[in-house]
Amino acid sequence: MTVALIVAAGRGERFGADTPKALIALAGRPLLQWSVDALRAVASIERIVVALPPGVAAPAGTIGVPGGAVRSESVRLALAAAGEGDPVLVHDAARPLLTPALAQQVIEVARAEGVDAAIAAAPVTDTIKRGVEGGEKGEDEGGGARRVFVAETLDRGALWAVQTPQVFRRATLERALDVPREVLAQATDDAWLVERLGGRVALVEAPRDNLKITTPLDLALAELLVDGNPA
Ligand code: CTP
Ligand code: MG
Repeated sequence: MTVALIVAAGRGERFGADTPKALIALAGRPLLQWSVDALRAVASIERIVVALPPGVAAPAGTIGVPGGAVRSESVRLALAAAGEGDPVLVHDAARPLLTPALAQQVIEVARAEGVDAAIAAAPVTDTIKRGVEGGEKGEDEGGGARRVFVAETLDRGALWAVQTPQVFRRATLERALDVPREVLAQATDDAWLVERLGGRVALVEAPRDNLKITTPLDLALAELLVDGNPA
């Protein structure tokens, strides 16, 4: 059976609210509760552990643990409190619109032969360029600000915008998280920690609707997506 970890312990600095981001309401329901409800509807998930900000209670039916200083540390602390269960699903509370069907699909791919982890991701729609700093601006432009120039244009056909859920074989995730703090702090997702050990991470195509709430603009978009369908 699968154990699910929801990381909700972030401060939501880019969102800029007074309350932790996980408690911000989307269509009247806290962001964290959306993910809990979706994952509780997945039959193969036996337990849900949530990494929480200080002073926030665990939602009904979940086990709460205090989160860590960086995201992957919150994952490590939640896993340590998870009891038995393999594989392990990791999800960001900042993505309230995941569906039970997507979670189930990622779990199935993670269980396949020759796969160490499976991650939800959407093909990139923007053209992505890598930028490099190109020296000081000329004096006539004033300010001394630095210009950024294009170093290269990446092949969009091969690029994926990574989401959660991400599902791991438990032994793989435990090994990947058993690294110094500096390495954990570098990780913007857990799959990277597996990749750096040479693990095989499968991409599972997911809808862009499974968006991440980072700023109030993202919340406004999510409100539009759930309008008339707040389930
Ligand atoms: N998270 C966590 N513990 C941390 C940092 C982040 O559990 N120390 C969680 C967040 O609660 C969120 C997810 O990781 O659900 C993705 O992080 P992000 O979207 O960056 O949220 P915040 O860190 O809260 O936002 P910000 O970076 O703007 O402060
Ligand atoms: Mg953050």
